Amino acid sequence: MSARFPEGLAEILPMTAAISADGHLTIGGCDTVELAREFGTPLYVYDEAHLRDRCGQYRDSFAAEAESARVIFAGKSFCTLAMCRLVAEEGLYLDVASGGELATALAAGFPAERIYFHGNNKSESEICEALVADVGRIVIDSFEELARVAHLAREHGVRPRVLLRITPGIEAHTHEFIRTGQLDSKFGFGVEDGVAARAIKTAAEEPAVELVGVHAHIGSQIFLLHSYAKAVDVMIDFLAETKANLGVDLAELNLGGGLGIAYTADDTPETIAGYASTIVGEARRHAAERGIAEPMVAVEPGRSITGNAAVTLYEVGTIKEVPGIRTYVAVDGGMSDNLRPMLYGAQYEALTANRAHEERTREVTIAGKHCESGDVLIKDARLGAGLAVGDIIATPATGAYGWVMSNNYNAVPRPAVVFVADGRARVVVHRESYDDLLRNQEP
Ligand code: LLP
Repeated sequence: MSARFPEGLAEILPMTAAISADGHLTIGGCDTVELAREFGTPLYVYDEAHLRDRCGQYRDSFAAEAESARVIFAGKSFCTLAMCRLVAEEGLYLDVASGGELATALAAGFPAERIYFHGNNKSESEICEALVADVGRIVIDSFEELARVAHLAREHGVRPRVLLRITPGIEAHTHEFIRTGQLDSKFGFGVEDGVAARAIKTAAEEPAVELVGVHAHIGSQIFLLHSYAKAVDVMIDFLAETKANLGVDLAELNLGGGLGIAYTADDTPETIAGYASTIVGEARRHAAERGIAEPMVAVEPGRSITGNAAVTLYEVGTIKEVPGIRTYVAVDGGMSDNLRPMLYGAQYEALTANRAHEERTREVTIAGKHCESGDVLIKDARLGAGLAVGDIIATPATGAYGWVMSNNYNAVPRPAVVFVADGRARVVVHRESYDDLLRNQEP
């Protein structure tokens, strides 16, 4: 039987994480120290069982609440061929937010009719790509876009099904950069200022598109389910008024994503089942109260499927003590593979993968390898007393918005991604080479 993780780590690690007899962190039955050796570092390691479990929890929890409910994986959190295939196998729908994400989904063989196409400024060519692929829904964000989609649909001789993105005016308690439901937002049509009602009228009168519903996304990393209940109420009120004032009956209510996850032991997220029953239950209750038919509810989870499924592995290269101040532990990655600490002040935990059972008694600062002082992954990380150069450090909960936001700052190649399951590891994204970095540059 394996040893136990120090307090607080089991909750944030992938579900199959364990400790081997020699004290190494294992995921999916694979020794992460060996993975680091075989595939190099930094390395993104995804637990396939965890990804499938979270897809299954979403599918089953929403199906239990309402037969018609749809779960749409937010591709942006980890858009790769392997993930699109896994999501298709698990029977979910897929949200893409650009032509590139759409191309990835189509290359993975994801069924186009299960794709939702998002974006607050889709280009004409992106719209054409979506029309040619015949995606299931296009989510329209502005009057200009409505006109653009209608015009291009006429040219292509198709009639896309569309939703309008509505800004419900909810201030979700989360970081300003990932909060989107408030009136002052670049996204969508505002309810409060009456623009949303005007947009519905315009879209309903536009014969080139089929208006089937509305969409709202109040933000990300949200811990309070009542924020969702509030958004549901605003949206149901809006649907009831749309019906009463405009005679437009809309069947689909898409509530976006945003369910928060645990990055550190201090985070206490809600369950997927609780989220499903809050959203569907509130939609049912309030629709009955307002005398309209219960809408078909859809959600778009990203982070809560992919976030805790992965860890990033790094190798410790230098340890610098600044006496009386702090100890800098420099690893071989940083802001090129995980931008979230620098962009949002996001907090992470760390553990030493080659001594995973070790009590974390030493406070250090884990810095990256980039030429800038702000390149700090974890300011006050706790690691074991035995910390040494050559150790493999794992940072849990990097599965969402990690690899997809990785970049080539300092001409650092983007890391590889492996999926692990049942004792086997497979590369799903290869590490970039220097040739990859130079590929699009004129010699
Ligand atoms: N649906 C829409 C329309 C969205 O804009 C988003 C996230 C989602 C669904 C998925 O939200 P999730 O369940 O993953 O929270 N880069 C930031 C997050 C930005 C999210 C933008 N939209 C981060 O690293 O936290």
